[in-house]
Amino acid sequence: AVPVIIDCDPGHDDALALLLAVGDPRLRLLGVTTVAGNQTLDKTTRNALRILALAGAADVPVAAGCDRPLVGDLVVAADIHGASGLDGPDLDVPVAEAGRVHGVELMRRLIAGSAEPVTLIATGPLTNVALLLRGHPEVVPRLRRIVFMGGSTERGNTTPYGEFNIVTDPEAADIVLRSGVPATMIGLNVTHLALATDQIIAEFRGLDTRLGAVCADLMTFFAGTYRRVFGFAHPPVHDPIAVAAVIDPSILRTVAAPVAVELTGTHTRGATVVDLHSRTAAAPNADVAVGIDVDAFWRLLMAAVRRAGGG
Ligand code: BDR
Ligand code: CA
Repeated sequence: AVPVIIDCDPGHDDALALLLAVGDPRLRLLGVTTVAGNQTLDKTTRNALRILALAGAADVPVAAGCDRPLVGDLVVAADIHGASGLDGPDLDVPVAEAGRVHGVELMRRLIAGSAEPVTLIATGPLTNVALLLRGHPEVVPRLRRIVFMGGSTERGNTTPYGEFNIVTDPEAADIVLRSGVPATMIGLNVTHLALATDQIIAEFRGLDTRLGAVCADLMTFFAGTYRRVFGFAHPPVHDPIAVAAVIDPSILRTVAAPVAVELTGTHTRGATVVDLHSRTAAAPNADVAVGIDVDAFWRLLMAAVRRAGGG
């Protein structure tokens, strides 16, 4: 199985990303680190612990990382994910404590201790990942790649051209994309193709497990906020696509392209500038997802939630 670490800010779709990693036998989840993003760090950490406990994966080490972006103040997404960061379902479950070690240090230890190169999957702002690469460059050769949900080849969701994870910490994203570590970018241009339709929500409920019901309730809440905030008929489920990309890369179509992060910009700080048609002299620094097999993705996710839920 492929050894992975998930760095996340749960978050409704981060929760699905964790469940996909726990439930698919092709991955070995070495650890989970949390970052401030969708909600404050204490909340995203607690949410990660709750989801792992519900999935019978309380033994996976969890550590809290950075509580704010590298530069500037944290702006959470309570309008999308609610006051808890995971509003909707009943998540009442006894949880383990997070480890006392800092999330960046947990990542370092897990990567240093792994016999095989580790794939880092990031589904929140890239603050922890940037600090890892800057603070511990010795781990770089031991990373297979970084797969992150963030950015877009098109428009944004937090500002007209900025996607939430990148807008929250543009400097961190810039560090990661300039690091030389192979990167795969899963942006809104593909995540907006995988929608939790009423049929998908019914399928989750039809699993007839507590975890299936939690997923159905998470997506029902998410559907409500996406309808209210964006006027979408169904919500996109961004983050698990980054996990699916590691399990079965054939689900995605990618192109190697230069990706720059707008760090200034009068209206566009945090935008990902993707040169899909070689209009600049820049060398490609990421495999950018441009297409997705939506049915295959949902089959993967449904099977993993079934398995993690003991169904
Ligand atoms: C990203 O932002 C967060 O709200 C989601 O969890 C996802 O990682 C989508 O822009
Ligand atoms: Ca996220």
